[in-house]
Amino acid sequence: MSILSAEFRGIDFFGRFTVETQEQYVPWHMTLGFARQTFDESRHTLLNMKLLEHLGSHLGEYPDIILGPQRGGEIPEEELDPAILLARINVALEGFALTTFEEIRALARDLGEELIEHCHDYNMADEVTHVALGDYWLERLSQEQPWRKDRARAAQEEFEKMLSMVREMAANFVGATAGGSNQNGGTPG
Ligand SMILES: [Fe+2]
Ligand SMILES: [Fe+2]
Repeated sequence: MSILSAEFRGIDFFGRFTVETQEQYVPWHMTLGFARQTFDESRHTLLNMKLLEHLGSHLGEYPDIILGPQRGGEIPEEELDPAILLARINVALEGFALTTFEEIRALARDLGEELIEHCHDYNMADEVTHVALGDYWLERLSQEQPWRKDRARAAQEEFEKMLSMVREMAANFVGATAGGSNQNGGTPG
């Protein structure tokens, strides 16, 4: 369910990104690329809704949650720079999603869950292009304004650190709920 929640937010984020970055005079083919990504996120949302139904659930059965710490309040203007957003979302977050989908796909294959395996394979194919889109436009925008490169790299590192904390927390949670076989809270194995 949290993947579906993230896909809904993907439509919202990339839809706004496509429209709002036009005010910052980004190249028109960057706008086109992110309009296409918004379309991809809509398909992922539909795909995950159908998968949820296939698993016997439906939208609304579980809370709409998103993993990881959430930010409240005002976001500083400089963090809304397109290059910083690309570093955080396309490169760090979608890179993380790619790894997660690969793990789910492998697990589904081991369990013989063909549809889940197939859907994540399909989703991963799109995520590869989303990470590449982020890398490409981050580089292009940094060529125009070189200060963006260091700031984007720092934002990406900070975000990746936060994501690895989330992964560790999830692994500890799984360990703690696996019948107490991992009582010190560490990652199993
Ligand atoms: Fe997606
Ligand atoms: Fe994506």
